[in-house]
Amino acid sequence: MARRDAAAGVARSLFGEGRWLGVGVDGGAATWRRLAWAPGASALPPGGPFDGAVVFLDRGRDAWVPTLGLTAGVLAPGAEMAVVLENAAGGRSFADVVRPMADEVRDGGGRGHARITWVRGWREPLRSLDGAWTETPTPAGPLAALPGTFAMGRVDPGSLLLAEVVPRPAGRLLDLGVGPGFLTRALRGLGEDAVGVDIDAWAVASAARNLPQADIRLGDGLATLRTGERFDVVVSNPPLHVGLERSPTIVKRWREALPEHLATGGVAWFVTPSGVRVDGTEVVARRDGYVVVRFFSPPRRSATR
Ligand SMILES: C[S@@+](CC[C@H](N)C(=O)[O-])C[C@H]1O[C@@H](n2cnc3c(N)ncnc32)[C@H](O)[C@@H]1O
Repeated sequence: MARRDAAAGVARSLFGEGRWLGVGVDGGAATWRRLAWAPGASALPPGGPFDGAVVFLDRGRDAWVPTLGLTAGVLAPGAEMAVVLENAAGGRSFADVVRPMADEVRDGGGRGHARITWVRGWREPLRSLDGAWTETPTPAGPLAALPGTFAMGRVDPGSLLLAEVVPRPAGRLLDLGVGPGFLTRALRGLGEDAVGVDIDAWAVASAARNLPQADIRLGDGLATLRTGERFDVVVSNPPLHVGLERSPTIVKRWREALPEHLATGGVAWFVTPSGVRVDGTEVVARRDGYVVVRFFSPPRRSATR
């Protein structure tokens, strides 16, 4: 995380005079965040026009072009975007990727482990995400997805295994890190009596399209749940990265806090790569380098839901 924080610091130092937009980083007149680590995340940027933008991208390459297109769509004519990317996320090759898409692309040099690229005259500014959707055939039917959302264009083998192993659930379902919604779609069709949670506004928009009957929430995992809100079945193919670094922090946090949200007799199911150990769980299946684990609700004196 230290490198990512340093790269965010580089991004913050680039805001210019006038009304600048920060994309994925604050410090300007307005901020656009797709990821709901802080309140106010949204799928689209705030209305402009802005005099410039500082865009802090991450390794989700699929999302680079639509993110820059939407940012360009709220810039004043001639305004510049300062794009910051960690080298490990593709910072060194970024300028070559976007050169054909803009009138002017200038290398702003490296700073620490990040690279700055200045972009002006983006040729296809966007006002909406309407043209960005793709559709992927899955065993649970076609799934629509926005760029940069998990498993766009394919079905993750871990999610496939989890969907096969979990008994078709009775009762209330929670899908933690719902992505475009494959797991809930496989287990619960259009999402009846299901809640899906994701930190990414584009994943939430995708899940809402694929699961029109589900309650889809934008936010940080269990923080989106109400006190005392309980589920009979919880499924998750949990995130294993924080920024660029692999980290089991989130899955550990979810394992510890989930018992509070399981109904009496409730079961939680996770799928992870085989090397990841989740304490206090029982292994129920292995395939293709993935393992499915489960744990049950703790015994309670009075059964409340
Ligand atoms: C491995 S993907 C699984 C997606 C989907 N459930 C599937 O099986 O295809 C993990 C998902 O967790 C989301 N995520 C990451 N951190 C999160 C957090 N703190 N709270 C909620 N969702 C999170 C990511 O945006 C991503 O969509």
